[in-house]
Amino acid sequence: MSQLFATAPSTAALADAVSRKTLLRFITCGSVDDGKSTLIGRLLYDTKLIFDDQLAAIEKDSKKYGTTGPGIDLALLVDGLEAEREQGITIDVAYRYFATDKRTFIVADTPGHEQYTRNMATGASTADLAVILIDARKGVLTQTRRHSFICSLLGIRHVVVAVNKIDLVGYSHVVFAEIEQAYREFAARLNFASITTIPMSALTGANVTAPSTDLPWYRGPTLLQHLEGVEVEADRRAQPMRFPVQWVNRPNLDFRGFAGTLASGQVRPGDEVTVAASGRSTRIARIVTMDGDLDLAEAGDSVTLTLEDEVDIARGDVLAPAASRPEVANQFAANIIWMEQEPLIPGRSYLLKLATRTTPATVTALKYKIDVNTLDQLAAKTLKLNEIAEVNVETSSALAFDPYAENRETGAFILIDRETNGTAAAGMVLHGLRRATNIHRHASTVDRAARSALKRQKPAVLWFTGLSASGKSTVANLVEQKLAVRGQHTMLLDGDNVRFGLNKDLGFTDADRVENVRRVGEVAKLFVESGTLVLCCFISPFEAERRMVRDLVGEGEFVEIFVDTPLETCIARDPKGLYRRALAGEIPNFTGVSSPYEAPKNAELVLRTADAPIDALADRVIDALIARGLIEN
Ligand code: ADX
Repeated sequence: MSQLFATAPSTAALADAVSRKTLLRFITCGSVDDGKSTLIGRLLYDTKLIFDDQLAAIEKDSKKYGTTGPGIDLALLVDGLEAEREQGITIDVAYRYFATDKRTFIVADTPGHEQYTRNMATGASTADLAVILIDARKGVLTQTRRHSFICSLLGIRHVVVAVNKIDLVGYSHVVFAEIEQAYREFAARLNFASITTIPMSALTGANVTAPSTDLPWYRGPTLLQHLEGVEVEADRRAQPMRFPVQWVNRPNLDFRGFAGTLASGQVRPGDEVTVAASGRSTRIARIVTMDGDLDLAEAGDSVTLTLEDEVDIARGDVLAPAASRPEVANQFAANIIWMEQEPLIPGRSYLLKLATRTTPATVTALKYKIDVNTLDQLAAKTLKLNEIAEVNVETSSALAFDPYAENRETGAFILIDRETNGTAAAGMVLHGLRRATNIHRHASTVDRAARSALKRQKPAVLWFTGLSASGKSTVANLVEQKLAVRGQHTMLLDGDNVRFGLNKDLGFTDADRVENVRRVGEVAKLFVESGTLVLCCFISPFEAERRMVRDLVGEGEFVEIFVDTPLETCIARDPKGLYRRALAGEIPNFTGVSSPYEAPKNAELVLRTADAPIDALADRVIDALIARGLIEN
């Protein structure tokens, strides 16, 4: 089956179209049963964007497979998407492209079922308007509410309620009026600037691109008229200027430019701008492009800005007008949509990308998740694929951002899984959190270097990871003895012991283990500040948290020691009888039995306790510390 413009049009074609006419991006929400494919097919067909050979093929197919009797089945034009679904192929979003004399259109077409929420969110995130299909025979359904909520969450301001199949209810004004009222009542809870309801029949074409004599009571625009006329640019033009710096362009000593794409607003030479994070102000000197300098750059333009003064600016900084700056904070509240199979774990370290900035971040609180069908707020400890929640996010360095409702470019972010590099979540900033802004770091006079010098040693974290009963504590204990004999100052943090005190509130769910390791990592960091060699023995089953602790301390100060003992050996040893009980199903979430262990891939040292005596293994650790220059020979 041929599919029209199944992928986004080339940027060149788009740029060309945009330069001539304004662009409207919209999304269609509904299912095949609501007539969505037929509607899109009708728009493409009536705007003459179907090529003759495609039309011939569809006419042939219509006779064979069509469900609409004589004539052509327009749904066959766009049903490739559904076909893909049947084949179990992962669907992203299908973008189709058409144009009239007045405007250029990009339609994002996504499947409407709940398991495709993330696809719908992706399509909605760039759309200015949503066409929400309602089958006139069925009225406002659960899916109508779900689709509307997701569109509102993703910042769509304009909605068209397409009351389709109006021919099947005898073109009834009463039915239409009832649906319109029901929809408006529901949508009052959402954030739309305009709602336009249009009765139509995608099948007969009534009110899609041409009015119909069958609807004498309807005086409003056809769908296409509305799409051609709806004002969306004004919203965008009104936004303050935001220029996230993509890279610093310094080809020679005489030129220093800041390259990037203007996220919103406009900028002219002479405008006063402020670097959001530092608050330093200067003026725009030139707007440089490949085709010469510009007098004006607008949202969407890729340009290089030069400034009148030498101001410290790096990739990821945001330039903005002094009088309307973005917020700058390292904590904010946000809505997120979970997009990957692996669930969200609050406390875990992800990478957060907002505009041109990427920084480690954690979800510090999951306030509630939202039932997308009822909009109820529900308590939750984790989020699964396609679930939506309000959360608090903390980034490791301060970011410049705007609330998503004010700026979709500088208010949107993604969370990236540090293991797979896949997109874990899409997020929309609600507002900054000022909780911790009155806290400033104290620079102590006796610093870390002074403390190390006093102890005559270099501090480091020796991180022992491995299954329960793998021998972590046994080896670490012996290593600590050997270090003590050498006159080194040490501290040993052990999983079982820490869980009696600092972490006595934590159990063994994934979330609790993440928090366990996070706290221990912070404690280990403090010991490093004190100049101590700190030995940590924790199962620490997840790569992401081990990496987080590694990132907490300096380069070369984290030595990961994988105590690699086969599970069978640990089960045979079973010093505390825990494996026996876990295998009998008496202990839930037991590592290696009913909870995973992610073996380190790049540990500095791998110790196989099954192959060598403990003393030899402890000596290998000592040798590794000498080789790394952490202790002297
Ligand atoms: S971690 O996964 O959060 O790093 P940690 O090292 O602190 O675990 O604690 C592991 C110790 O707790 C084990 O050595 C074992 O004695 C005990 N324990 C009790 N329940 C479990 C469980 N479900 N899984 C693993 N260890 C458990």
